[in-house]
This record gives sequence, structure tokens and C-alpha cells, in this order.
Amino acid sequence: MKPISKKDKLFTCFNKQLQKTDLQENLANLAYVAKAENLKVAFSTSFGAEDQVLLAAIQGIPEHGFKIFTLDTGRLFSETYALWARTQKRYSVQIEAYFPDATALEKYVNTQGINAFYESVALRKTCCHIRKVEPLRRALTDVDVWITGLRAEQSANRQSVELLEWDESYQLLKYQPLLHFTNQMLWGYVQQNNVSYNTLHDKGFVSIGCAPCTRAIREGEDFRAGRWWWEDHSKKECGLHSKN
Ligand code: ADX
Ligand code: SF4
Repeated sequence: MKPISKKDKLFTCFNKQLQKTDLQENLANLAYVAKAENLKVAFSTSFGAEDQVLLAAIQGIPEHGFKIFTLDTGRLFSETYALWARTQKRYSVQIEAYFPDATALEKYVNTQGINAFYESVALRKTCCHIRKVEPLRRALTDVDVWITGLRAEQSANRQSVELLEWDESYQLLKYQPLLHFTNQMLWGYVQQNNVSYNTLHDKGFVSIGCAPCTRAIREGEDFRAGRWWWEDHSKKECGLHSKN
């Protein structure tokens, strides 16, 4: 008989347990099954409103055992670092920081310049690769389930994202608990649960990444219009997620 693949095993373990309507119930089920099956779960946070909601929900689950990590690109907003500190203090949670490889970053900055990402899409993607994608690969080593804050409403491409999907590149199950949350539901949760959030959200910033590559958006603009705003719409992705 053919041995069961990691993909099939993970789908079998989690498919039914993660389809409830209640966010906390889904996360508690995930923690329970992961513990029973000895599987490793990791949650990546960029400290956006989605991630703060997920972190608040995760904190409510005793002994969840999830690894919580962030990719510190070195170019984040000071407001993001302030929120990181506030969050760590409030929840006494261990948020593991992953940094870019120093040698690769020194070479890039010393040959291309400190703000080379504005010069071409290729140079921008190289910067994203060094500062985000390679550290993400390290963070996800040996991880079985990766929790992200992706929401379908964030972009046209994200409408085809699924609640649970197999990520071929990282060989793990990717889980988006807030996939079907609308913006209204998200901010309703923030208010009802007194979730701390990035003060930039009050200044028109919706999707927040690195400071030089993020701007506030205007009324009616796409949620992700403020990311790499100088680039063609079709090229806007940093490589963390296959569907942006
Ligand atoms: S991105 O691909 O454009 O950068 P986005 O900012 O929308 O992604 O965030 C979507 C999800 O990707 C977040 O909810 C989080 O899980 C993950 N993510 C994005 N940036 C980071 C980061 N710097 N550190 C950790 N996780 C991140
Ligand atoms: Fe570099 Fe901008 Fe990508 Fe951040 S978002 S890693 S600064 S190109």
C-alpha cells in the first residue's frame, strides 16, 4: 500500500476541525490536534490589525504551543516596533524575531544602495527576498502548519486563497483563520476585545509593511494600493505568499 503523504495526513487531521464559525474554537481545535499528533504550528505576525486579532485569540488558548514569529526586515515603521514592544509586554508572549542574513544584506546595500528598491522591480524583489523570504524559509523549517492573517477581501488575488491550503514551496499546510472576515468584522473584533493596534491604521494606512514601501491609501483605493505604490499592479508581491 502507498504510504500516506504529509499533505494528505495534514488535511485529514485538520480539515473538519478548522471549519467552525468561531475563531477561537478553530484555533483551540488546531492546538488540540497538533498536540495529539505531535505537529508543529507557527504563526507569523507583521503586527497588522489581522495579526493582532489572531494573537489576541491565540493568547486565549491555554498551552497552545504555537511558535509565534515576526520577520524584522530592518526597515519597519517606528510605530510597528512600538506596537511589537507593547504587545510583547501585554501578553508576556515570546515573539521570535528573524533577521535577514547579514552577509547577503551587506552585499546588497553596499553594491546597490540603501534604497535600491525604487530603481527596478528586480532590485525591489531582491530586497524582499533578502529581508523577508529567506528569513521566512528559516522560520518555517520543520513547521507543519503555518497560520497567516491573509483575508480574501484584501485583494483580487487573495479571493482565490483557501482556508486551508497545501503550500508546495514550504511543504506545509497553510491556514488563514480570518480568510472570510470582512474589514468590518475585523475592526469589530478589535473594538470588542480591546485589541492593541498599529497607530498608523488611524492615519489611513491599511496594509502595513516596510516604511519606505508603504503609504496611506485614499478613500476608495484598493486595500493594498499603499504597498509598493510606484509599481505596476501586477508586480506587487514580495514572495511570502504565492497568491497576493
Ligand atoms: S505581504 O505578502 O504583502 O507582505 P501582508 O502584509 O498582506 O503580506 O501580510 C499577510 C500575512 O503575511 C500576515 O498576516 C502575516 O501572517 C504574514 N506576514 C507579512 N509580513 C510579515 C512579517 N514581516 N513578519 C511575519 N509575518 C508577516
Ligand atoms: Fe525591501 Fe521594501 Fe521589500 Fe521591505 S518591502 S523588504 S524595504 S523592498
